[in-house]
Amino acid sequence: MAQIIDGKVISATIRREIAEKTAELKEKEGIVPGLAVVIVGEDPASKVYVRNKHRACEEVGFASFAYELPETTKEKELLSLIRKLNKDKNVHGILVQLPLPRHLDEEKILLAIDPAKDVDAFHPYNVGKIMIGNYDFLPCTPAGVMELLRRSNIEISGKECVVVGRSNIVGKPQAMLLLQANGTVTVCHSRTKDLRAVCRRADILIAAIGKAEFFDASYVKEGAVVIDVGINRRADGTLCGDVKFDEVAPIASHITPVPGGVGPMTIAMLMQNTLTAATAKL
Ligand code: GUN
Repeated sequence: MAQIIDGKVISATIRREIAEKTAELKEKEGIVPGLAVVIVGEDPASKVYVRNKHRACEEVGFASFAYELPETTKEKELLSLIRKLNKDKNVHGILVQLPLPRHLDEEKILLAIDPAKDVDAFHPYNVGKIMIGNYDFLPCTPAGVMELLRRSNIEISGKECVVVGRSNIVGKPQAMLLLQANGTVTVCHSRTKDLRAVCRRADILIAAIGKAEFFDASYVKEGAVVIDVGINRRADGTLCGDVKFDEVAPIASHITPVPGGVGPMTIAMLMQNTLTAATAKL
């Protein structure tokens, strides 16, 4: 039976470490890390995320600035807010919650954020730095996965790592980070010929396709580490990952549950990036 990697416990430990560093930063340098979160429109899931980010900021001792803009906000207005936040000395991190309403050009908005305050690491400048391996910020989800592996003492070097999913936010940067940790990395996607056969080679399998309980035991090699990045809903409304947990757990060596695995790590990584941004010039 697999060891369950408890993202809630690991995330709480990291947030405690960040709270301690934040208290020290306040005392020694008089700096209070500040995170601005911008949300446009009324998407209920996004509103929950934004509320959770605000609560996490309070818990670690950061200042949190929330901007809740109406659905009808014009691109010009949003760009002008971002320019203001770029200049604001009390704001070290800026996060524009995605998805944006359709009339707003996401790429243009993300490009407007000062790369030094880009705590999502979505700006092409930061994406490029990740490619080179010389980065300041990592995108929160893949960074959270790496931290789960590191704190569970899972060796990556020389291992067969299979990432299923190639999004800009998860799959692609995840593959790059595993490569930098000396894994042998394969990236699979919807056109992969024999997905099951490739997944069965994996010592470390990262499931990030967003399909409820897609990966059953036939995709997993005995003793593999299985990291489930999916957050889906079953027909009955309950949450589940991309992996059939009950079937896969008996054959894996380690597995992350959903909820309570990768999910809680993303906010801890956002707090980490904000602290990094606040201390960059010291
Ligand atoms: N929407 C869902 N996840 C994220 C995230 O990590 N960052 C931003 N900006 N928007 C999101």
